[in-house]
Order: sequence, then C-alpha cells, then structure tokens
Amino acid sequence: MKNRLSRIIKPKTGRTLMLAVDHGYFMGPTAGLEQFDKTVEPLIPYADALMLTRGALRNYIKPEYDIPIVLRISGGTSIIGKELLHEGIITSIEDAIRLNACAVAFSIMVGADFERDTLLALAQVIDEAERYGIPVLAVTAVGKEMERDARYLSLACRMAAEFGAHMVKTYYCKDFTKVVETCPVPIVIAGGKKRPEKEALEMAYNAIQEGAVGVDMGRNIFQSEDPVAMIQAVRAIVHEDATPDEAFKLFNDIKEERKKT
Ligand code: 5RP
Repeated sequence: MKNRLSRIIKPKTGRTLMLAVDHGYFMGPTAGLEQFDKTVEPLIPYADALMLTRGALRNYIKPEYDIPIVLRISGGTSIIGKELLHEGIITSIEDAIRLNACAVAFSIMVGADFERDTLLALAQVIDEAERYGIPVLAVTAVGKEMERDARYLSLACRMAAEFGAHMVKTYYCKDFTKVVETCPVPIVIAGGKKRPEKEALEMAYNAIQEGAVGVDMGRNIFQSEDPVAMIQAVRAIVHEDATPDEAFKLFNDIKEERKKT
C-alpha cells in the first residue's frame, strides 16, 4: 500500500501531479480527448500518475509506459442521463490488479438522493482493495445544484476518509484550509471546467499552498491551447512551488518555443 502511494505522491516533494483523462466514462468523446493517444502521449513524461478507465488504458496506452495508473472503477450514469453520478462499481479489484493499477478511484455523491448507494459501494471497494494493498482515491463528486463550498466539501472529504479512503479528490473552494485541516488523508484537487490558463494556475497554486498534496487535473491541461506547455507550468507549481506568475511565464515561454519547432 505504502509503496503504491509513494509511486503516486512523490516522496521527494510529498506532492503529485495526476493527469485526469477518465472523462469518457460519463462524458463520451470529451473535447480534447477524441484522439486520446495523440493528446495524452506527449503529456505522460510530465505526469506523476494517469487517472483513466480500463478501456482507455487497454486501447490507448502502450504497456511499455512507466507511469502509475489510478484506475477509475466507478460509473453507471452519463452526462445526459437523469441521475448524474449515481455510480456503482464498473471494474473489479481483480481486474485493477491484472492491469497493474497503483490505485483505484471511486466517486461518491454526498447530499444526493442516492448518496447511500455510492457510499456503500465505496465501502465495498475499500474492503476489497485493502485485501490486496491497493489505495482508494475517493472522488467527492458534486451535482449541478450543489454548492462547492468548504462546509459541503469538508463533509464529503471527511466522510470519505472515515470510510477508509486513502486519498481524496475534491474541488478548490474558499476557506479550503478548513477542508484540508479536517481531512486526515491527502487531498488532490480537480481542475473542473476549462478556464483561462492563468486562472487555472492560480487555483492550483492556492490549493497547494493551502495544503493539497497536488492536483488531479484534466480539462485545464488537455483543453489548453498548448497542453504540453500547460502541464509543465502546473508541474512547476506542484513540485517547485512556482508562483502563478512564474508558472504562467513558463507556459508562454514553452508555448512560443514549441511554435518554432
Ligand atoms: C469526475 C471526475 C472527472 O472525470 C475528472 O477526473 C475531472 O477532472 P477535471 O475536472 O480536472 O477535468 O473526477 O468527478
């Protein structure tokens, strides 16, 4: 368990840059990931871990790549369905092990009618994963109508940790330190919808400075006008404590340099 966690959260900095490219499991061919391998392959050298589904792993990622896999094992509803994120188990722990996953990711929906289903499924996943020393990343999903505030997110993160999750993925919010301080396991933040690069870098910086161990960022990297430059800018924030200004300059410098080649 500890070894697997150390492959994801790098001991040298105690931080991680997870690249989230699991969106297809409920969003289908998400903008930027239509040609999955073309977008993701050039980003792999700069990511500490890849979060994706078994289908994406099997079809798009060469087995030769030495990158820890955080396998998305929850799903069951789509972005156009009636119940967003009412998820159950879509991949067994045995298959996660067979695919050499370093961790598995499961979404919970606290505050929705079906919260009980997702929480009991999380408990089942944790029991099964513990048996084999596989860490579980609980994703605190947020419905369209729910407030992404510290009160709600600290409730969801703390519940996930009390259920036994080994890491939690949540959203950055005002008073984020409250979320971090009341959660006994490492927290990574999702990027959320695409926003201007400078803003995304500021959000990552604030989250790290306020106690997140890293990011599990997707659209703000792979939908950037230059994803390769963006992931390196985020990396500088995560592992080198670069300020948003420094990271944004790095983004622009790499982008300009790449235009020449
Ligand atoms: C949904 C998820 C996503 O599929 C994904 O990982 C989110 O990443 P981002 O918001 O940075 O695009 O976790 O709950």
